Amino acid sequence: MTGSAIDSVLEVFPGRSALMVAAAERVVAAAGRAITDDGRFTWALAGGATPRELYARLASAAYKDRIDWSKVELFWGDERCVPPEHAQSNYRMVRETLLDIVRPEPGRVHRMRGEWEPERAAVDYAEDLACAFPIGRFREAGSPPRFDLVLLGMGEDGHTASLFPGCSALDERERWVVPAPPFAGGPWRLTLTLPVLNEARHVCFLVAGASKRDRVAAILRSSDPRMELPAARVRPRSGALAWLLDADAAALLEDRT
Ligand code: 6PG
Repeated sequence: MTGSAIDSVLEVFPGRSALMVAAAERVVAAAGRAITDDGRFTWALAGGATPRELYARLASAAYKDRIDWSKVELFWGDERCVPPEHAQSNYRMVRETLLDIVRPEPGRVHRMRGEWEPERAAVDYAEDLACAFPIGRFREAGSPPRFDLVLLGMGEDGHTASLFPGCSALDERERWVVPAPPFAGGPWRLTLTLPVLNEARHVCFLVAGASKRDRVAAILRSSDPRMELPAARVRPRSGALAWLLDADAAALLEDRT
């Protein structure tokens, strides 16, 4: 089925386990298509507890051999400005739940340098993206990198990646990666910007839990193009957009068939 306000695919699942199975199947399918078409699968990962469950599912015996990890290029949609072994590091979370099991080639794991000064890390990551997405086969001149898949979570306030309500990064139209100031007392962050997120072939939101239902309803029921919540601003220019929800997160959506 398609979503209501945003032209997207909306799928609601009875519980978190069914949600994670569906998300894992979607990743497996996206990886298979990209590897068949282009010889590689470029995937921007999300932080957070909900995406973490998906990584654990993909690392499980049922899934880990269903993706050719030797052809997967992994990136991060955002990172906290902490060292890679820090408890708050998105890289550490993905390493522990997925990388240590599927063991991709190190050169295909594109970590944001959370341990560096934020502006230097942002410039460095943009340079890494330019190398990973050379103009021609993988990027049009003057365009941002085009990920095969961008996985996104959503916070209770409607943030996604490290694009928080009201932050200046939401208005960035040129840079691909920018520092994002501390939010709720946390560390500085690095985030991909909307031009990159909206260039993707396939964007998949993975959202679960009753605490998200108000913002999910506000975003998916709104037809107002001025809807300012960051997650609502993710509207792929030409790619596919999917919202995968559990029943709790979708509780305020009328049409949940
Ligand atoms: C981060 C994430 C962030 C996350 C959402 C959802 O670094 O914190 O990238 O955008 O995806 O906050 O997180 P939960 O699934 O844990 O609610």
